[in-house]
Amino acid sequence: MAKTSSKYRHIGVKPVASALGAEILGVDLSRDLPDEVFGEIHAAHLEFGVIVCRGQELSPERQKILSARFGKLMSHAIARFRHPDHPEVMVMTNIKNGAVNVGASRAGFEWHSDQSYKPVPALGTLLYGIECPPEGANTEFASMYAAYDALPDARRKIVDQRSGVHDYTWAWQTFYKDRAPLTDLEKAALPPVCHRLARVHPETGRTALYVSEGMTRSIDGMAEETGRALVQELNDFATQPRFIYSHAWQPGDLVFWDNRCLLHRATPSDPQYRRVMQRTMIEDGFAAARLRDQLGVAAQ
Ligand code: OGA
Ligand code: MN
Repeated sequence: MAKTSSKYRHIGVKPVASALGAEILGVDLSRDLPDEVFGEIHAAHLEFGVIVCRGQELSPERQKILSARFGKLMSHAIARFRHPDHPEVMVMTNIKNGAVNVGASRAGFEWHSDQSYKPVPALGTLLYGIECPPEGANTEFASMYAAYDALPDARRKIVDQRSGVHDYTWAWQTFYKDRAPLTDLEKAALPPVCHRLARVHPETGRTALYVSEGMTRSIDGMAEETGRALVQELNDFATQPRFIYSHAWQPGDLVFWDNRCLLHRATPSDPQYRRVMQRTMIEDGFAAARLRDQLGVAAQ
């Protein structure tokens, strides 16, 4: 791994795995960050893909302020998942309120990249641990740069030419059978979208694989089952242990990941332990600008 210490003068940066991930030391995210501190956090986010800041105190308001420094906040596509007072915040919890889950339960157990099912996906996600089980419920991250670099030539050729079909309705019907079905309106708002399997990161210039078992239904232009088998093969290749960082949560952890170059998934925990997580997402402004260019629409 490259030596990084000289680059960071205002924060501590401690890599946590060989493929991706770093802990950031010496920051208080509940305060307005000076530009030079913010700049280094941004640089570390680009360099390591996922950054971890422990011991933070973040109200929904403060998490929104922090997130907004990185780009435009993005509310979840499904209105029932939004925080009643803060639509850009989503609470994920296993707490049952009668028969109804308080936030979004059982979310993200399959590998995925947030909001990849939209034409403009999420650049990054900030997840904050409020209540965390003493064991289990890790979030795992897989470097899609490392996966792309390690692809065998024959596979890379296909990846460089093809696009994946990302389909939220399919994912809901396949993985979330326990949830109330999507309404016709919700389905209509989220038609399947295609994204290239090889994705050049707009800020680092590196190429990452962009495909996941959780959201990529199939491959554009391939027979459904052949495409789905390739999706699963690429997903499994990309999520080998050597490409992974597994985050064990403590209350007060803020984890900020880059959806443009990694996959992530939730892992199970004993339901006797409460888990409450507060989440915000940032829109991929680079993808939004590209889409506007393609459509010939003036920026607003
Ligand atoms: C998410 C997500 C995983 C987890 O917040 O987007 O996938 O462990 N979370 O809760
Ligand atoms: Mn997710």
